[in-house]
Amino acid sequence: MAAQATQLNNLPKHPLYRLMEHTVGTQSIITTTGQQWKFWRKVFDPGFSSTHLATLTPMVVERVEIFIKKLEEHVETGEAFQMLPLTKSLTMDVIGRVTMASDFNTQQQSHEIVDAFTVLPKYIPPFGFDPIRLFSPTRLWNARYYQKKLDRLIGEVVDQRFRERRAGKVGPSEKSLVHLALDTYEQMGGAVNTDVITDPVFKINAIHNIRGFFFAGHATTAASLCYLYYVLYKYPAVLHRLRQEHEEYLGIDPEDVGARVQKEPSILKRMPYTTAVIKESLRLFVGVGTVRNGVKGFNFLDPKTNIAYPTYRDGPFPILIRSFPIHRNPENFPDPERFDPERFLGERAASMTKDAYRPFEKGPRDCPGQELSMMEMRITLALTIRKFDIEMAYPEDAPKVMGDPAYHVMYSSAGPAANLPIDKPRERTGVMSHAIRTAARNGLNSSSVGKTSEWLVLLADKPGILERRVRIRPVHSENFVKLHESGFVSWAGPVFKEHVSEGIRPFIGSTMVVNAPSRKAVKETLEKDIFVTEGIWDWDNVQILPFQTILRQPAQKTGAVL
Ligand code: HEM
Repeated sequence: MAAQATQLNNLPKHPLYRLMEHTVGTQSIITTTGQQWKFWRKVFDPGFSSTHLATLTPMVVERVEIFIKKLEEHVETGEAFQMLPLTKSLTMDVIGRVTMASDFNTQQQSHEIVDAFTVLPKYIPPFGFDPIRLFSPTRLWNARYYQKKLDRLIGEVVDQRFRERRAGKVGPSEKSLVHLALDTYEQMGGAVNTDVITDPVFKINAIHNIRGFFFAGHATTAASLCYLYYVLYKYPAVLHRLRQEHEEYLGIDPEDVGARVQKEPSILKRMPYTTAVIKESLRLFVGVGTVRNGVKGFNFLDPKTNIAYPTYRDGPFPILIRSFPIHRNPENFPDPERFDPERFLGERAASMTKDAYRPFEKGPRDCPGQELSMMEMRITLALTIRKFDIEMAYPEDAPKVMGDPAYHVMYSSAGPAANLPIDKPRERTGVMSHAIRTAARNGLNSSSVGKTSEWLVLLADKPGILERRVRIRPVHSENFVKLHESGFVSWAGPVFKEHVSEGIRPFIGSTMVVNAPSRKAVKETLEKDIFVTEGIWDWDNVQILPFQTILRQPAQKTGAVL
């Protein structure tokens, strides 16, 4: 049905969008319609072509590296923090370059344009009916003040870029939105013998479109990045598999990823599981949609019953298209609350109902920034998830919506409740990278087979990991069942501080007897287990001792949980 309003027909946006004009101005493509919308949408299209976006890769990597520095600062101070302000600063730095060819460096310093954007939502009209706020003279005055300030500051950037062009300082491949607008201005003969923009209509259109793209292009991606960290925390098996894919495509050392991605930007799009995880996260947590207006003579046709529903009777009906419920329709997404990236892989992706998945909306007014946003998310994940362990710090009694404490809260745009509180992040330098790097240097691979011997493996847990061990144990157990079935593991089990009959068992390590041709081969197989990659076992001090079973009783039925 949504496709009927956006793709088969492109119904006009609802007058409710007037509310957005407080943030993005009156002339932005977000709120305008007809010829004006069509004209400007076309002007900015080249700024989002795949070829052009690939050229932005180094810029995005550079800004994500600053984001990493910010995370490292939190590792150092050991303090809990909120993720959303960090991801917002990151995406503002990216969109500042994309829209205005400006390097705001918001992650490290303040900037007038960014400050005005951040403050403005405080003064836009309230969503609910709140007459005191609605008619408050202070609110009205402040809203006007910051709107004018934004227009003035962005106008100064447009003038400056225009002067740079006239001085021959801008290359032909420059496709930031301000330059695309100025290209059009020049092509229309608006720049003859002058260093000043003389057409006020052009200028206000350029300013409001930059305002619109800046707004739409940072808050959405920033919130989506937060939800990605949230789901990766909540589903350790997904994180584990994602890290494996990154290792496979981007190399063993996470420190090399930036250079690797810059050398071959297209590699990111070839990582199927990464794309599937992002898509599944957007399926469940996208906070955007569209609101269209009914039109005389246009009826919705229910494909199941063939009943036609008018969209106009004594006036237009508002038509709300929200991906939140659409993406939870069990007919199109079986077991819809389950986080299941596999939906977007192989056969299942191919058989997905057409138009059921629409985080960026569809049709002529779909999101022009969708590829940029996907690219930002892929790069940020690639550069961070093997470097850090990021855990949520929602209190036990935090309110939940549909089981999640990270539900959407609306400010000027939707974002996770409490801005996604994070426990102090941990850097994952030691264990994983060291073990993997050593293995790589030694040229190990899993095909090293030969005559096997028995090995007794003794592994202590690292201190302070009990809660994480318990959480990710199901993934570890699944792996060990497979290793047992393959004949590698003879027997294995956890070691406790003491035996307890109830509550969380006090795990302190693991022990096992395995069959392998060499100590190297034992290491090579075990270091892929999530207890190594996630730093649960003290892998640097693993003991692998030659062993021989002489006497053995069959395993007793203890009722132990795997
Ligand atoms: C995860 C990130 C994003 C999501 C989920 C998202 C989603 C959407 C959706 C659902 C729409 C339709 C809105 C409506 O009809 O009211 C839209 C429109 C739009 N988006 Fe995005 N977006 C994202 C990122 C971006 C980025 C990075 C940019 C800019 C570079 C951007 C710029 C725009 C613009 C300008 C429109 C209006 C298009 C038009 O009406 O022709 N978005 N987006």
